[in-house]
Amino acid sequence: MSDPTPITEQSVEDAVEAALRAAAEAQDSAQLKAARAAHAAEASPIAKLNASLRSVPNEQKAAFGKLVGQARGRINQAFSAREAELVEAEERARLAAEAVDVTAIAPRRAAGARHPLSLLMERAADLFVGMGWEVAEGPELENEWFNFDALNFDEDHPARAMQDTFFVDPVERHLVMRTHTSPVQIRSLLDRELPVYVVAPGRTFRTDELDATHTPVFHQIEGIAIDRGLTMAHLKGTLEHFARSLFGDEAKIRLRPNFFPFTEPSAEMDVWAPNAKGGARWIEWGGCGMVNPNVLRSAGIDPDEYQGFAFGMGIERTLMFRNNLTDMRDIVEGDVRFSHQFGMVV
Ligand code: PHE
Repeated sequence: MSDPTPITEQSVEDAVEAALRAAAEAQDSAQLKAARAAHAAEASPIAKLNASLRSVPNEQKAAFGKLVGQARGRINQAFSAREAELVEAEERARLAAEAVDVTAIAPRRAAGARHPLSLLMERAADLFVGMGWEVAEGPELENEWFNFDALNFDEDHPARAMQDTFFVDPVERHLVMRTHTSPVQIRSLLDRELPVYVVAPGRTFRTDELDATHTPVFHQIEGIAIDRGLTMAHLKGTLEHFARSLFGDEAKIRLRPNFFPFTEPSAEMDVWAPNAKGGARWIEWGGCGMVNPNVLRSAGIDPDEYQGFAFGMGIERTLMFRNNLTDMRDIVEGDVRFSHQFGMVV
């Protein structure tokens, strides 16, 4: 250094004081780094004083050397201490900024839920698919011929009356909201090669008022099997298997004589479930029977060669007595809290 700063106690003290002030005033690591460069590094006042030790007369070197050495020690110590403080403060600030309130309520939107009717229909359809049956669908706005005529309903059958069936204008088009899933029997027979094993879950309509046990829009699952040599025994075995899959291995079914235009003989089917609410008891579950030869004929099938059975039951009703529901309106209203109770399994 060409022009060394003369070392005096005052100049050393000034350099120390300036350095300590700068260290104390630094508000973050970057400011501290700059302050350290200015007050402790090469070309800083204290470094210059240190350099000028060379020109100090020999007899004073020890005293001034000690003075400058102690001064540098204080300066370095001050910067280290301030650095530790700042690092800690910055760490604290970072943690505070990143803090997560684990007790805060997450802005999560409630997930929807599948409707138990859909789950139950799928479960039923799956069971039949597992036995090699197919799943079929038909239109909800149905031709009167498929809904009634092809199913052997007489011209004056009471079900054709306005008070039971939604007829759709204009009347000349003979369209109805299907009153059951049985028209899918006819559609399946016309569409497919024999033998036919089909289940048809779907929505159906009748002019009922909505109350605890009725709804004008409801669901059924239909089954039809047409093959050579099918008997009531096949029907009963199939329904028993179906009942056990839904109501447990001890469930039983019984058939009581009944009448449907499209089956002969026809039966009302009851199911007995040991775990039913209020104790094991017989509950009316659906209709069934051997497909009426007239129905086979309307689908162009020779009843002497092929026979078959059919069955149909209401899904809402099944859900109600299977899951101990008391009011059908709960099923219909579409409140997701109702569906949530069933989870993903019915
Ligand atoms: N379709 C009939 C009903 O809605 C039920 C049924 C289906 C009966 C198949 C016999 C055979 O009541």
